[in-house]
Amino acid sequence: MQIKDKVAIVTGGGSGIGRATCVRLGELGARVVVADVNLAAAQETAELCGGSAYQVDVTSPQECTALIHSLQTVDILHNNAGLLTNSEDFLTAPPERLVRLVNTNLVGLMLLTQAAALSMMGKGGVIVNTASVSGLRPWPLDPIYSASKAGVVFFTRAVAEQLRAHNIRVNTICPGLVRTPMAANSPRIQALTPEQRLKVDEMLVEPAEVVDVVIEFIQDDSLFGEARFIGKSGLPPEGKMIRGL
Ligand SMILES: NC(=O)c1ccc[n+]([C@@H]2O[C@H](COP(=O)([O-])OP(=O)(O)OC[C@H]3O[C@@H](n4cnc5c(N)ncnc54)[C@H](O)[C@@H]3O)[C@@H](O)[C@H]2O)c1
Repeated sequence: MQIKDKVAIVTGGGSGIGRATCVRLGELGARVVVADVNLAAAQETAELCGGSAYQVDVTSPQECTALIHSLQTVDILHNNAGLLTNSEDFLTAPPERLVRLVNTNLVGLMLLTQAAALSMMGKGGVIVNTASVSGLRPWPLDPIYSASKAGVVFFTRAVAEQLRAHNIRVNTICPGLVRTPMAANSPRIQALTPEQRLKVDEMLVEPAEVVDVVIEFIQDDSLFGEARFIGKSGLPPEGKMIRGL
């Protein structure tokens, strides 16, 4: 799909990967809708990309539907809003946080995919989901996050088959650790020694590298149902996800 003049929604557009995607889409001439639960952050991004800010909590079915209905047309949806558990241990993670995480990372993404796909009927569209390497390989340090992202990978691959018949392409990116506020604010990273931090720094992928793949998924009409790893080294072998982060 050509990006110029297309309407593109980016959830989690107020920060990190989402903000970088909004800025690139703006540079490529898209009409960007920066959708985030944090309105002030969305407004900052909107200024950077020449788009408009929209406050949405993707865990709310009503708010997801209202976002889509507020626009005359939607061509591109980047489902990118996400959270970590940020707990030391699965056993002590507050249950409310677990529900919020799954509803943000997975259920909200499904809700918006459904609402956007219905509005794309007849003319087609592109949906890019944000999963994670921890959706391809189990991440013992945050099992709920890992499960939510594995859900995104399987949802994408399964729904891509159905939506392809309507000329809607769905793909998912699976980044390793990315240099964003999510990574920087993670208590696990903050607890590392300066030496360990240097090692982590070498592993970090830049948001721009992630955005490259988002743009490829939008532009290349042959791609659907793909889950693409983005990392400094290869996909870690099964059972070898980094511990200590
Ligand atoms: N940073 C990494 O290392 C990394 C690696 C792999 C995957 N990811 C995924 O990439 C995506 C973006 O992460 P990031 O690193 O840019 O994080 P980030 O914390 O910098 O940005 C996430 C954004 O999502 C928004 N958000 C959170 N809950 C929301 C909700 N319910 N409704 C709407 N917006 C909401 C936040 O306000 C924030 O602006 C996430 O899905 C994350 O899981 C990140």
